[in-house]
Amino acid sequence: MTHYFTDNWENVQNFQARPDDILIATYPKAGTTWVSQILDLLYFGQTCPERHNNIPIYERVPFLEIAIPSLDLGYQSVISLWLCYHVTCFPYQRFPYSMFTPHAGKDLADKLPTTPRLIKTHFPVQFVPKSFWEQNCRIVYVARNAKDNMVSFFHFDRMIAIQPEAGEWNNYFHRFLEGQMVFGSWYDHVNGWWKKKQNYSNIHYMFYEDMIEDTEREIDKLCSFLGLSRSAEERKMISGGVQFDKMKKNEMANYSTLPVMDFKISPFMRKGKVGDWKNHFTVAQNEVFDEDYKKKMKDPTLQFRTEI
Ligand code: A3P
Repeated sequence: MTHYFTDNWENVQNFQARPDDILIATYPKAGTTWVSQILDLLYFGQTCPERHNNIPIYERVPFLEIAIPSLDLGYQSVISLWLCYHVTCFPYQRFPYSMFTPHAGKDLADKLPTTPRLIKTHFPVQFVPKSFWEQNCRIVYVARNAKDNMVSFFHFDRMIAIQPEAGEWNNYFHRFLEGQMVFGSWYDHVNGWWKKKQNYSNIHYMFYEDMIEDTEREIDKLCSFLGLSRSAEERKMISGGVQFDKMKKNEMANYSTLPVMDFKISPFMRKGKVGDWKNHFTVAQNEVFDEDYKKKMKDPTLQFRTEI
């Protein structure tokens, strides 16, 4: 972990979840933004369409554990969200209420005026605040195959100012295998959440590769899990609207409004593919990876696809 995710530790651990909160949990770079956008559209696409055109995803779906004093996480949006949610068709407007500016995702989540609240976390399962379990909240966990996840994380670490330097690829590759990453080991993360699913039925465990293969099918599964009845037309429309090229161009979903990222180095919406690892792994690295993977991933019920 880095201090950006531990500075607010006690407050985050004491976060008071509500029964209808929905937690979106992922290892970084597994498709968090994609699923966040889908859930936001499923819940508010019809009732509050303005929010998608005007409020960045990181304000609609707060990142629970983040705390960055110099970063305005946008309380202005809390007011706009409230109006948009409670006063139908209220024209969206950003309010200059800088005195409300929050620097912690937890504060932003506390103040979200909508129901349900969609909240994002990258915590390994053991760090999730206990109120989420006590309130029996629904949790959507997204996992992505380790090879593509590693590549995506590498490019992200190159372009974002608040992560440790990515450094050189071969060194990064070994760090990933050793679990020396922000939010820890990918292997522990995906296995920990998979195990939790066995005794906590309110987890929907989904895979990035399945979303690439058939987004509409995965949206249907999400609706079943969330108990949402949305028309086939609406589900199709959402699926079309969240395809990679559309989201890449969407300023409210592509993070281009967040100053800590340097898109000149690498864009947030980079490639959005399964199998890009083949452009990065050497043959030797692939052999090392596969050998190590067999040792760490012993549960035959948890299977990932590295190509589709
Ligand atoms: P790449 O770096 O491989 O392109 P997160 O939101 O968890 O940080 O994950 C970011 C990764 O998800 C990036 O992967 C990004 O391009 C990809 N992604 C985001 N939106 C996507 C979409 N609509 N379709 C496919 N991939 C998407």
